Amino acid sequence: MQTTLSIVKPDAVAKGYAEDICLRIEDSGLKIISKKQIKLSRDQAEGFYAEHKGKPFYEALINLMTSGPLLVQVLEGKEAISRYRKLMGDTNPKKASPGTLRHDFAESIDANAVHGSDCEESAIREVTYFFPNK
Ligand code: CMP
Repeated sequence: MQTTLSIVKPDAVAKGYAEDICLRIEDSGLKIISKKQIKLSRDQAEGFYAEHKGKPFYEALINLMTSGPLLVQVLEGKEAISRYRKLMGDTNPKKASPGTLRHDFAESIDANAVHGSDCEESAIREVTYFFPNK
């Protein structure tokens, strides 16, 4: 069993896609074991995405992530990290396959609807970042 962090980003929440995205996650067989809707402060967003500081897209990313409420969730299942990344599709929605969350719900590489941990080490850090008791 593995756990991973999922974020439904502010662009998708604002468009009313959160419920559909959660249904797709559950339909894929992954279990949502924790969830909360929050609005990130700039400090929280910068802490979460510290590894991207200095990259050309960093400011746009922080602005997007602090633009409105988002949904953070812990997903559980066998190979949850890779399964959720497959469900999300390519980071760039223009390259994502039909049926993936980013193809179906995202508009651009910045406003790309969802985030998922990329490896076990990130998953532990990211789950703990939002759910310190997990
Ligand atoms: P996410 O999975 O949340 O991780 C970092 C985010 O930065 C990514 O999704 C995208 O929304 C955003 N981003 C914008 N441009 C790029 C890029 N060229 N490469 C990677 N991530 C990018």
